[in-house]
Amino acid sequence: MKLTSALEVAKHNSPESCWLIIHGKIYDLTEFLNEHPGGKKILLKYAGKDATEAFDPIHPIDIIAKYLPPEVCLGEVDASTIIVEKKEETPEEKIRQTAIRNKPHISEMLNLYDFEAVAKQTLRADAWAYYSSGADDEITLRENHNAFHRIWLKPRVMVNVTNVDFSTNLLGHKSSFPLYITACALGKLGHPEGEVVLTRAANQQKIIQLLPTLASCSLDEMINASIVGQVLFYQLYVNSDRKISEQIVRTAEAKGCKALFITADAPQLGRREKDMRQKFVINPPDMQEDKDLKTRDEGAARAISKFIDPGLCWNDVKWFKSITKMPIVIKGIQCAEDAVLAWKYGCAGIVISNHGGRQLDTSPSAIEVLPSAIAALKAAGADLTKFDVYIDGGIRRGSDIFKAIALGAKAVGLGRPTLYAMSTYGDEGVERVIQLLKDEFEMVMRLMGVTSIDQINSSMVDISNLGNHIAAAPRDYLSAGVYEKMQPKQSKL
Ligand code: LAC
Repeated sequence: MKLTSALEVAKHNSPESCWLIIHGKIYDLTEFLNEHPGGKKILLKYAGKDATEAFDPIHPIDIIAKYLPPEVCLGEVDASTIIVEKKEETPEEKIRQTAIRNKPHISEMLNLYDFEAVAKQTLRADAWAYYSSGADDEITLRENHNAFHRIWLKPRVMVNVTNVDFSTNLLGHKSSFPLYITACALGKLGHPEGEVVLTRAANQQKIIQLLPTLASCSLDEMINASIVGQVLFYQLYVNSDRKISEQIVRTAEAKGCKALFITADAPQLGRREKDMRQKFVINPPDMQEDKDLKTRDEGAARAISKFIDPGLCWNDVKWFKSITKMPIVIKGIQCAEDAVLAWKYGCAGIVISNHGGRQLDTSPSAIEVLPSAIAALKAAGADLTKFDVYIDGGIRRGSDIFKAIALGAKAVGLGRPTLYAMSTYGDEGVERVIQLLKDEFEMVMRLMGVTSIDQINSSMVDISNLGNHIAAAPRDYLSAGVYEKMQPKQSKL
């Protein structure tokens, strides 16, 4: 391969001639500037320089070979001409790198908090802050998980539980488990390949993935990572420009997505202060360009959410139904009245959710809202075999899923734990997280004396404490051990 000096590369540092070094190879990206999904700004920032460090965390290794013609590669940089600027590694980065090197073997990961704990040690600070943060004082964030501890189980014995089947269906589509991978933004903050890791793991575990609007990967990349016949749903953030939303919905349907989950709990994104203390440094989600970002100084959520339409309302359901045949599910229902309205407006289902405690702090947990929503839907005349109720938020154990099913949920959504598993152990991590939950759930079913999902009902759980927010519960060391306390800003010492 042809060798070129670093000095020569440095001259090509403008929109007229933009060369970049990635892994020792020189690429002429001048013609590609306007096509780069992450915008040309970031390419120009590294024009004439080595961009490997910025490239690696957010791109699959083979992306250039896959999408660009071979002639963009001009050869290799002459290593002897590179003047290495020695960057001092911060003490925090040294600790992080040690944690990455010394990660436990995946077989030692026994529960979802194991993954969260390793993610906390190994994720970059901005990624950890964005993924883990909740709104304001993070009371709802913590309540989401704690609420499950206030529900007690009523086991039945002397039942033949040799064969247990936990397969089910979601909106009429088969799923091996009453759980789907829910939509979370910015997968590439945690893993260089982003959401396609989740798509592949969902297939391996035969569960459904809800593809996010704000994914780092493009819709095409996620679809291409799925296999023929794999069921995918699409999560929509409604854009103030309805033409853009229409285009997105039509594309998702044309590409085979089987349901449209419209996020309704985020007319404005909540204040997540851990996230706000970070700068947003990576590429925006695939759907956005650099110019769409609000600000890069107040964390990821603020940066990427400028476009969300606060005008979204019930009357819009009719319009969505006119542009798509996909069943519509409203995501972010937080009270029984709205559950009934979703049904009345002709939706196919709801997700009771407070957005992982990232929106309105002190809004109730989904599991607490669930029994009243089911009761109200039944009272209104809804046929719950035709209207799916899902919940998400705080699910960390097979028993949590059992409780949700007992109280009327068709399935649960799993968000952050899939991100933590993906960020720490890639495909294998996500597969293991789902498998652990399946193993736990199977055990719970046996110990509860049931052999199929349809046998699980509300007589099997005691919820008398659920609404009582001051009920004492044994201290949860796993959760408390990984939970990072919020810290007020202080002077540096
Ligand atoms: C969040 C979005 C974008 O950060 O879903 O909560």
